[in-house]
Amino acid sequence: MQNSFPVLQTERLLLREILQEDIHDIFKGFSHPDVIKYFGISFHTLEATQEQMDWYANMIKNDTGRCWAICSLDNNIFYGVCTLNFWKKEHRKVETGYWIFPEYWGKGIVPEALNKIFEYGFNEMDLHRIAAEVEDNNPASIAVLKKLGFVYEGTLKECEIKEGRFINLEIYALLKKDKNV
Ligand SMILES: CC(C)(COP(=O)(O)OP(=O)(O)OC[C@H]1O[C@@H](n2cnc3c(N)ncnc32)[C@H](O)[C@@H]1OP(=O)(O)O)[C@@H](O)C(=O)NCCC(=O)NCCS
Repeated sequence: MQNSFPVLQTERLLLREILQEDIHDIFKGFSHPDVIKYFGISFHTLEATQEQMDWYANMIKNDTGRCWAICSLDNNIFYGVCTLNFWKKEHRKVETGYWIFPEYWGKGIVPEALNKIFEYGFNEMDLHRIAAEVEDNNPASIAVLKKLGFVYEGTLKECEIKEGRFINLEIYALLKKDKNV
């Protein structure tokens, strides 16, 4: 897989492999209060962020998913990351995750990236189902999923503890037959 990473392109975006040198941007994202507000993980140092870099690298190495850096077409701007993770080949299903830096929010960047990534997932990874778990108070993420045709399936009530409080996770999913790819 490493030698044939699926670089993808959209009208405005280059979706490329996440490289070790991206650790600075990954750290910036995972330590930015607005980005990590609805995430279960964050990092306080560049060194600690290596854990996230290893997670991305192992996903590719072990063929348990795919992860892309979302960049401008000329590769000069690093916007954020999209992943298809927890790939269960036997069930043809995967989970998705995504974030971009706040200065780029509201421009349709993540829906544009995910649209291409899901097309790749359904056609090249032979996926049947893509699911997302979203904190119920994250309207921006829920808006993205709805734009892409995801359907709300239910809420896992008080299923995780974050900063000492129980949180609810909403489950959304998109099936290949509903994506029309
Ligand atoms: C969720 C996120 C990925 C959306 O990406 P995006 O490229 O901005 O997506 P869109 O441009 O389609 O905007 C989606 C929604 O964000 C909200 N939004 C737009 N601009 C915004 C801004 N400046 N500030 C806050 N929210 C904004 C709107 O609700 C919008 O929905 P709408 O288009 O129906 O009005 C982005 O907000 C983000 O990175 N958030 C932090 C990380 C995160 O929560 N990831 C998902 C975890 S499940």
